[in-house]
Amino acid sequence: MNKKFWKKKKILITGIDGFVGSNLAKELVILESNVSGIVFKKKKRSLLYFEGISKKCKLYKGDISDYHFLKKIFKKNNFDIVFHLAAQVEVGVANSDPFQTWESNIKGTYNLLDIINKSKNVKSIIVASSDKAYGTYPKKSLPYKENYKSAAIYPYDVSKACADMISKTYSSKLFNLPIIITRFSNIYGPGQIHFSALIPDLMKSIIKDTKFVPRGNGSDIRDYIYVKDIVDIYLIISSKLFKDPKLRGQVFNAGNNKPKTIKSIIKELYLYKNQKEKLRKILNIMKNKKTVGEIKYQYMDYSKLYKYFKWKPKYKFKNTIPILFKWYSNFFQKYN
Ligand SMILES: NC(=O)c1ccc[n+]([C@@H]2O[C@H](COP(=O)([O-])OP(=O)(O)OC[C@H]3O[C@@H](n4cnc5c(N)ncnc54)[C@H](O)[C@@H]3O)[C@@H](O)[C@H]2O)c1
Repeated sequence: MNKKFWKKKKILITGIDGFVGSNLAKELVILESNVSGIVFKKKKRSLLYFEGISKKCKLYKGDISDYHFLKKIFKKNNFDIVFHLAAQVEVGVANSDPFQTWESNIKGTYNLLDIINKSKNVKSIIVASSDKAYGTYPKKSLPYKENYKSAAIYPYDVSKACADMISKTYSSKLFNLPIIITRFSNIYGPGQIHFSALIPDLMKSIIKDTKFVPRGNGSDIRDYIYVKDIVDIYLIISSKLFKDPKLRGQVFNAGNNKPKTIKSIIKELYLYKNQKEKLRKILNIMKNKKTVGEIKYQYMDYSKLYKYFKWKPKYKFKNTIPILFKWYSNFFQKYN
């Protein structure tokens, strides 16, 4: 990576105090970029504050579905690169009351891109779509490829599919904005503090001895990619897009290409701490459970990223387990 490229670059990260946003900000601060970010409601427990990264960034507090709030930020700044990561990401929240998810994920995206389109100053825009934007494909179609059309049905998935399509429109010849769209599989690692997500929930249960409530029988297939690999991809694609207009409108998938059943992840983490009895009880409860409102089989393929940029993941799930336990133990000591 060309470290010099990032020095003094003016960056905006929407969702900077989110899981991925705070990990990205951490790296950009190290690279001496000039980092600004949008935060929704201050989350004191975010890695951004927990690790003191916020002190080195300029933060704007507000809602991306508020057009005028966003416009003011762009009036004051001349950003070189934008990472659009802000979104309502909790599947359960989206399923029970989707309105805020539409507002943040769809309206927030067209507000942002409309403002950028009117100024035409930004040279590189990364929009975080998701593997969920594809919706459900039969098991035989796995892994998902970038040319698959969206078959999204569930609210979170539809919200990401809409944001994805809107971004495609803005990158088309009609508007020609420098946008790359990313569709990643499940991301995990330090800083993920949505305890409705599988890995944080398991960490909490194992470290703090809380009850883990499985959402299904564990046969669902997912692919987990470590957050440092994601930060690596973001830095590569945004800097390449900055210099190469031909990359406009490209979509990149990424995962580990190592699909796992949910059951195998649960087993691996409990057994790492030798909690056999607790695991046995959980597996028993899981037998009769059925997942509702979620895609059953999903994993990505990173071969396009490899073809374009020779990128492949550096982190294996097994090797990240000790890092996870260390980080979450520290976190729970501080925030109980
Ligand atoms: N974590 C994953 O497994 C994963 C996988 C694929 C794609 N993604 C996408 O990556 C992005 C980042 O995900 P994350 O895991 O960091 O999620 P996160 O919830 O930790 O971070 C999202 C941030 O967006 C903010 N936000 C939500 N609504 C907002 C609004 N209306 N205005 C301003 N800010 C708002 C939240 O406060 C939060 O800080 C999201 O777009 C998500 O869809 C995540």
